[in-house]
Order: sequence, then C-alpha cells, then structure tokens
Amino acid sequence: MQSFKTAEQLAYDLRPDQPVYGFRPQVLEADAKRFMRLFPGKTAYAVKTNGEPQVLDVLAKAGVTCFDVASPAEFAAVRQAAPKAEMLYMHPVKAQSDIRLALETYGIRTLSLDHEDEIVKLTRVVQAMDIDPGQITVFVRLATKGAAAYELSKKFGAGPAYAVELLDRLTKLGHKTGLCFHVGSQIEDPNTYEQALKSADWVRNRMMGELAGLDIGGGFPADYGVDPASRGNGMPPLDELMARINSDITEWGFGDVPLIAEPGRVIVARAFSLIVRVMLRKGKRLYINDGIWSSLSDSWTGKITLPARFIPDPAIRNRNGDRAKVVPFKVCGATCDSVDILSRPFWLPETVDTGDWIEIGNIGAYSLSLRTRFNGFYPDTFCRIETPFDEDVKPEGRASLETMDGFREAAE
Ligand SMILES: Cc1ncc(COP(=O)(O)O)c(C=O)c1O
Repeated sequence: MQSFKTAEQLAYDLRPDQPVYGFRPQVLEADAKRFMRLFPGKTAYAVKTNGEPQVLDVLAKAGVTCFDVASPAEFAAVRQAAPKAEMLYMHPVKAQSDIRLALETYGIRTLSLDHEDEIVKLTRVVQAMDIDPGQITVFVRLATKGAAAYELSKKFGAGPAYAVELLDRLTKLGHKTGLCFHVGSQIEDPNTYEQALKSADWVRNRMMGELAGLDIGGGFPADYGVDPASRGNGMPPLDELMARINSDITEWGFGDVPLIAEPGRVIVARAFSLIVRVMLRKGKRLYINDGIWSSLSDSWTGKITLPARFIPDPAIRNRNGDRAKVVPFKVCGATCDSVDILSRPFWLPETVDTGDWIEIGNIGAYSLSLRTRFNGFYPDTFCRIETPFDEDVKPEGRASLETMDGFREAAE
C-alpha cells in the first residue's frame, strides 16, 4: 500500500480519478486501545462495521482478542486475521446451517437470539453434534428504547417478559445464559445505556438461572463533528460517557457479571477518509466519483455530520492562499440513479470546481462494508496516510443541515 503524509500529497502525486480510501492504521490502533482502556469488560469488535483484512489485522495486533460476527464470511475473515481470537455470533436470526458451521468449523460457543424458534434451531444442531449444552452461552437480546442515529430495536430484541421466558427455557436445556442489547448506533442521549440496564435488571430479577454475562452491545458514538444546524446531541466526550456507563453498570448491580461490549463505529470511524474527485461542477451541484451506493450511504441514511477538506487542483489555477467563503453544494453521486444524491448539502469553499478533490473524513464505519457494485462503480483503492485527519489543515467543509442564504438554491 502506498503511503503519503497527507491526503493533499496523495491527490497531488496520484491525481486520482477514482475514489481512494486513506487508511490511518495508527488512528485505528489508538482508538481500539482507548476503548479497551475505558471499558472494564471484554471488547468484541463488531466486524460488520468494517471487516477489511487490514482493519482486522491492525486490531488483532492492537490486542483485540474477541470479535462480534454475524455471518460465515465474517467468521472466515476473523479466522484469517486472528486465528486464535474468540468469536461471538451475535446475529439474533441465523440460518441453521450457519449455526452448525459456527459450532462445528469455527468452534464458536457464544450466540445470541430473541425468539424461541432460534432455540429450536440451536438445539437441533447441539443434539446432532452431541455437544454438552453447558459449553454454550446463549445471550438473549433485549429490546431497548433510546435516541440514536440508527434505531435497532425495531428489528431485533425480545420484550422483558419474553426475555425471561427465553432465558428460562435455555437454562432448562442446560445452557449458560446471558443478556445482551444494542441501544442503537451512534447514540444521541447519554441516558440510553442506563435505561437498557434498568430493563436488564428487571429481567435478571425474574429469571431462574444465573446471569453468565451482560453484553451492552455497540452504539458508542464516534467523533464526527458537530452540525451547526442540529440542535446538538449533547453527547459528552467518550471518556466521560464511558465513566458514566461504568458507574451505571455498578449502580444497577452488574459490576460482578462478566461484561462484553461490541463497539464498531467508535473504533473504526476515524481510521479512514475518502478522497473523491469532483467530476463536474454544475452551478451549485457537484458530481463526485462516489456516492450513496458506494462509501457514503451511512452518512446519507443516518444523521452523520462528516467533515470535508477541500483539495484544490493546482493544475487548474494557482490556489495559494485561496481560501474562499464556505457555501453549500448539492452533492450528486457517481451512479446514474437519481436517488444517488446526498440528502444534505456539503459546505465547501465556493471556488470548488471540476477536477478538484475533497477529502471526506471519518468514514471508516459502515462505508466500505456497505459498498455495492451498482453501475460498475466499486471503490477499492487504498493508500496509507500518516497524518490523522484531525491533525491536518483544519477541514473547511462538512455535510450539514445548516441553512443560510443560498442553501435553498443548493438543496433544490
Ligand atoms: C449486534 C451488533 N453489535 C454491534 C454493532 C456495532 O454497533 P456500533 O457501530 O454502533 O458500535 C452492531 C451494529 O449494527 C450490531 O448490530
């Protein structure tokens, strides 16, 4: 992988016409270590967030020994990067053949579920393989309510009373049992975990067996930048949030229970940026070579404010000292699909033009993993960048809901 000091240097040296991912392994390592330092339990990196081999390699070297996996492809990716790592199969709805593969080929012994039919599938496999059920820990996923950019309990999770029923069934079958939840990705309210812990406590007090573990899932917010137009999500810095979660865990009496967290975003978001080129400027519209079907769907569907750095093309004009007013542009993606337009304007210096580059920061989470091959566009070029995005020249731009004169023109 080629290495550059900054994205600007990369753009000037390679003059890329295709999107390039700027990978910052040192940032990934630092963010993984920071999370592990702040969370007292086991850190199981959520592979779905970004399962690129180079990401898993760096995490394994940084000391991550446990991974949250959801599919056979993720089992294989983890086994390849970290052959001795533990895997937790935390997708609540699974194919029976995948359960068998997990247990038989990958030696996975921790799973989650939220429905009795999943217990039936698991039991069939356990009996067919003649495994002692006491070797398998099953986490029942609890539905939670909370404020997050992505709500996940609409799709998964058992209500508290049903969770008790499932846990008791599993105990009678001889399994060890745990409770897990996922409060939603990129939480926007620090009380969210406490509400989930309260609900877990309610369940724990009614279940017949002992709780073998509490898995507080993901949701820990990554540092994306604050949208001046949003009402502000009021999230404290990560160390404060984690201190709050840790004290809530103790207050709700889970301090002695083995703890797990499944962070995704908070570990990998800052490790990648995306260097895109403006293929065409048409008035207040910019047509770029990436979009919602490639690396930008997370920012399009979520409420993520991504920072953006303008990299003017020196071949077009002399940009020295050219720091123009920042104005909103409507950003259109690479494909022919008219849905492929970012839902929020990007604010960039008004001189941005055809041929310039934009470095979009902090796109490591749910960007590469959500890429499609639609229209034949599939960004797959990686370079290493030595300077952390935040330590380079201050980014002038951002995606934002912000309104001001000119915004309507850009957004229509
Ligand atoms: C089961 C599970 N665990 C962990 C994660 C990671 O969440 P986050 O990236 O919000 O930390 C997800 C994300 O959807 C998930 O579904």
